[in-house]
Amino acid sequence: MSKTSLQPPRGTRDFYPDDYRQREWLFGHFRRVAHRFAFEEVDAPMVEHAELFTRKAGEEIVDQLYHFELHDRHLALRPEMTPSIARMVIARAGGLRMPLRWFTITQNWRYERMTRGRKREHFQWNMDIWGEPGVAAEAELVGALFEALDALGLARGDARLRVNSRALLEESLRRSVLRQRPEVFEPLCVVIDKIDKIGAEAVVELLVDPTGPVRLESAQARDVVDMLRITSLDDAARHLPDDSPALADLRRFFELLEAYDVRDRVVFDASVVRGLAYYTGIVFEAFDSAGTLRSICGGGRYDRLAQTLGARPIPAVGFGFGDMVIAELLSDKGLLPDLPRVVDDVLFPFGEAERPSAIRLARRLRERDHRVEIVLGNAKLKRVMADADRLGAARIWLLGPDEVSRGVAKVRDLASGEESEETL
Ligand code: HAM
Repeated sequence: MSKTSLQPPRGTRDFYPDDYRQREWLFGHFRRVAHRFAFEEVDAPMVEHAELFTRKAGEEIVDQLYHFELHDRHLALRPEMTPSIARMVIARAGGLRMPLRWFTITQNWRYERMTRGRKREHFQWNMDIWGEPGVAAEAELVGALFEALDALGLARGDARLRVNSRALLEESLRRSVLRQRPEVFEPLCVVIDKIDKIGAEAVVELLVDPTGPVRLESAQARDVVDMLRITSLDDAARHLPDDSPALADLRRFFELLEAYDVRDRVVFDASVVRGLAYYTGIVFEAFDSAGTLRSICGGGRYDRLAQTLGARPIPAVGFGFGDMVIAELLSDKGLLPDLPRVVDDVLFPFGEAERPSAIRLARRLRERDHRVEIVLGNAKLKRVMADADRLGAARIWLLGPDEVSRGVAKVRDLASGEESEETL
């Protein structure tokens, strides 16, 4: 038999205790911010019916699916949480109080080409609001994500949010391309999302490709790409009717961000469309200001996803915030803490005769929530002392035959070296 590989599959991650403590530290911040915004935590299975994820707009995420057949079922590991949230909301839509605010912290799987901050397994904090069509929901979410960046210790200028609205693009194309073929909007967005990666010329080529899903005329494709260069709302307004609802929404959204005191950290950028097909309105992505990393988090409004899954329309908006890019950024800034293991008490029974007394003492201390380690085998005092020191334990309790017969234990405070006797 060949030797089992000790490496996990490429792109997946082991979490040894040091890594796990950091992960819990990060998730603790996510959870606290979500609670401050009165979001409730939910969860769903990591394995879903593959059809929940297999949309047909040409998204990368669909090609990256980990999927398999089992007992005639086509199943997939979730690449993202949004479709599962949608499934859960739709299943109980009649009985849920809207707008609902849900958050999740889940492990997701994508067979990605790996780069810094991108692996095949990642965790994502999601915050989603369902049942609210107005931009107050978008603003609340953006308020929350900046609160998380602040709580993690980043300075105000360390990260920026780039914002656009797909509705803006849709409105400006409604009189041309979309009049005859509204169905090209989703694949069009998926193609133009690639602009940062492949460049404007390659995007034009994909948009006009006669075998592709969009099939624009060359002039139309160039107009679309030109529009992506717009970086101010006033310039965007020139492509739109005066009463454009998408423009009014964006303006109101930016106004609300003033009240969250984050307006200066947000820029309008028409090239942000996001790579997932389901977005319909405002979309946003946060980046490190130095521009060296991929997106820290991203989200937007997806009012038609419920319909795509066969339900009545329900407005929805949310974001996903991964654990990896933020860890890279925090590490670059020296903000990722080295968290030591915490042990309060080490209990050392000198022999097996003293062990029952040590166990009873441990039970009392553990009732008070102390973290207690009983030395389990036979060991030498010197070795136990050195080990407790290395562990960073606060105290060591020595239970020798003499002490136990007198109903006491010797306690040493490992920081000060002070010793006292305590009754068992
Ligand atoms: P997404 O942009 O695909 O959106 O992912 C959101 C975030 O998850 C990214 O900004 C990044 O931090 C992290 N992420 C994604 N893929 C990877 C990877 N392979 N390795 C490490 N981190 C990764 C979504 O998933 C949407 N479902 C978000 C959403 C929620 N929209 C509405 N509600």
